[in-house]
Amino acid sequence: MKAAAITAFGGPEVMRVMEFPDPQAGPGQVRVRVKAAGVQHFDCAVRNGWTPAYGIEVKLPQIPGNEFAGIVDQVGDGVTGISVGSEVLGFALLNCYAEYVVIGADQIVSKPSAMSWEEAGGLTGNGQGAYIALKAIGIKPGDTVLINGAAGSLGAFAVQLAKEWGAKTVIGTASVNNHDYIRSLGAIPVTYEEGLANRVRKLAPDGVDAAFDTAGGEGLKAAVELVQDKNRICTFFAYDLIEELGLRVVRGERSASRLAELVELHSKGRLHIHIRDSFPLERAEDAHRALETRHGRGKIVLKMD
Ligand SMILES: NC(=O)c1ccc[n+]([C@@H]2O[C@H](COP(=O)([O-])OP(=O)(O)OC[C@H]3O[C@@H](n4cnc5c(N)ncnc54)[C@H](OP(=O)(O)O)[C@@H]3O)[C@@H](O)[C@H]2O)c1
Repeated sequence: MKAAAITAFGGPEVMRVMEFPDPQAGPGQVRVRVKAAGVQHFDCAVRNGWTPAYGIEVKLPQIPGNEFAGIVDQVGDGVTGISVGSEVLGFALLNCYAEYVVIGADQIVSKPSAMSWEEAGGLTGNGQGAYIALKAIGIKPGDTVLINGAAGSLGAFAVQLAKEWGAKTVIGTASVNNHDYIRSLGAIPVTYEEGLANRVRKLAPDGVDAAFDTAGGEGLKAAVELVQDKNRICTFFAYDLIEELGLRVVRGERSASRLAELVELHSKGRLHIHIRDSFPLERAEDAHRALETRHGRGKIVLKMD
């Protein structure tokens, strides 16, 4: 099969399309013909030489990619309820930038026909990440919530889930050209330059109950200044500051049941997935470059034929 692989640790230029042996589904596994794979900062970190702490080994040449959508084309022994031809989306830690991926049968859910391949390929990583973070900081009806980096893929899911779970007011930081976009998701937009805490105070005179930071900087500073209960601030960006700032340490594993819940929200029209850009496998390098600008709205995906 063809796959985009990391051939050495370094910048986006180390990505190459190469031939690999077709993987085979073992017991309890399925093989999926990948139609789309989301591009995540996680993948860029692996490319830079970071080894995720999940007991996995990164071996060069390494195929990155931890989320995908596609069509089941092999079903391993002992797998029930999934058949060849099923359209699915799911998660892994590596190996998704490829024509085929083999994963456990408990790492996929059905893809509704109304969900595009790109949307399906780009849902699980940031969708589940936002879900885990907002559950940890206990979003509840009536809350006023600050989402820093609200136009990014993770932030956009967080805005929508906070509204879904009853937040009265969601304030989202973004550059001006993304304000209409995050307004359309249900947030009140605010720019993230210096003086952010004061701008948020004006928008939320009764205070901010909880905050989720996906971009650091002024947004995280404002969160620490404005949210009284530090257990209700989560950062997925400034991990090095969590202890110093006394913030909640948030960890969580992806699950098929959580993914199914997100798919259902999408089907009901309550979770929108904006595709920022879609690249062919051969341009995985450009997809990484685009993501690493750290500006733009929604999700970047690789689209296979
Ligand atoms: N499961 C997960 O999703 C997960 C888990 C762990 C960690 N993370 C981390 O979460 C972060 C965000 O991921 P992502 O996929 O959402 O990234 P992304 O799609 O690249 O989004 C970046 C967003 O950040 C905004 N931004 C840039 N600089 C900013 C600043 N100084 N203040 C506020 N906002 C700023 C940009 O807004 P403008 O375009 O408007 O400037 C852009 O919309 C990454 O660092 C990733 O490693 C994610």
